Amino acid sequence: MKKKVFIETYGCQMNFNDSEIVMSVLSPHYQNTDNINEAELILINTCSIRDNAEERIWNRLKHLRALKKKNKNLKIGVLGCMAERLKDDFIERENIVDLVVGPDAYRELPQLLSLVDSGQNAINTILSEEETYADISPVRYATNGVSAFISIMRGCQNFCSYCVVPYTRGKERSRNPHSIVEEAKDLFEKGYKEITLLGQNVNSYLWKNDQETIHFWNLMEMVADVSPLLRIRFATSHPKDISDELIDVIAQRPNICKSIHLPVQSGSDNMLKLMNRKYTREWYLSRIEAIKNRMPDCTISTDIIAGFCNESEQDHQDTLDLMRKVGYSAAFMFKYSTRPGTFAYKKLDDNVPEELKIKRLQEIINLQQELSLASNKRDIGKTFEVLIEGFSKRSDEQQFGRTSQNKVVVFPKSNLDKGNYVNVLIKSCTAATLKGTIVD
Ligand code: 5AD
Ligand code: SF4
Repeated sequence: MKKKVFIETYGCQMNFNDSEIVMSVLSPHYQNTDNINEAELILINTCSIRDNAEERIWNRLKHLRALKKKNKNLKIGVLGCMAERLKDDFIERENIVDLVVGPDAYRELPQLLSLVDSGQNAINTILSEEETYADISPVRYATNGVSAFISIMRGCQNFCSYCVVPYTRGKERSRNPHSIVEEAKDLFEKGYKEITLLGQNVNSYLWKNDQETIHFWNLMEMVADVSPLLRIRFATSHPKDISDELIDVIAQRPNICKSIHLPVQSGSDNMLKLMNRKYTREWYLSRIEAIKNRMPDCTISTDIIAGFCNESEQDHQDTLDLMRKVGYSAAFMFKYSTRPGTFAYKKLDDNVPEELKIKRLQEIINLQQELSLASNKRDIGKTFEVLIEGFSKRSDEQQFGRTSQNKVVVFPKSNLDKGNYVNVLIKSCTAATLKGTIVD
């Protein structure tokens, strides 16, 4: 009989997809359970991006200590970026941890687990320059059956000065495009209608051999060709690599979603330089212009960091000004948190006082709230094609889904199930959701 594994995932979508790969590697000997109390193995897939992400995981491990006391046979493993960053410190600091595995070593899990079963601790945090898990078909164990993620590349070598990812996930490498298309076809055949192509920096995707050179925009076309009923999204892009070819492909293909996540991080050239982002405010705004000219209906979302090293009031105002100029539909907003090992940690002074970071972050959040509401209000009176994802959490009488622009729409239920498309006329909104009714 298979043993029961409970897997808990923190951080980005990439991590959620990695957990599906882990589940696939374990599937000959383990089956997934969503009841932590019956698990014989608990795996925590961790994130190191900010200090508070790591703090949450330490607290979670303290909590798991009680479970381990109750069940002496329970094994606990730590996976992902924090495993990579802290390696054997984990086992020393939290003696309940039996297993530590970095993001490029998941194939080794069965062997590592046999060591654990024989009473030893097991660690593998070796980073690879080739591993893309291309041949592993992820087990979609926590899915709505409508949208799925496909990792198309791993690692990052942009070395933004604040970011720990290049150290925890290693060098950039692209996955064989044909294995990506096969995975997309397989998902479509299983009823999925929306695929997000994932990577730390998808627009630098590049697959080259003697026969072919595939850029990201070529890959997007190949996946879009799977079926006109399959929606394609991607995350996340680096502004320096957002090419005209890619913008053209997004504009030309109705099933490539009109929504681009383009993390700006700051609206000030001083900050962008210190952050090693390799673009200027002017370049960024010119890319936004190019997107808007080609696709007036495309939404743009972003990531912003408040209170990076040396950030002046003027730098902060430049960020607020850029946010207004772009008119983001949504944003992920963070307070800068220094990460050991990064350039900023080693060479720059984390000198914006905590209260000021909090104040600036709040101003950014407040402004984004206004911009999201304004963006949603512009949709009132328009009709959008909505992919139904299920019933609203608040009421069985309401269904919800998403527009191509990645906005959530709630509407009185139809006789169609999730996975179908309906046209919805938008009647009202909040900053977070659109509300409407189905039209023919
Ligand atoms: N502090 C705060 N935010 C960070 N991010 C990355 N590193 C840090 C850090 N040290 C944010 C960036 C990135 C997102 C995934 O996390 O905005 O785009
Ligand atoms: Fe980090 Fe920059 Fe790479 Fe994004 S692009 S993962 S922020 S180093």
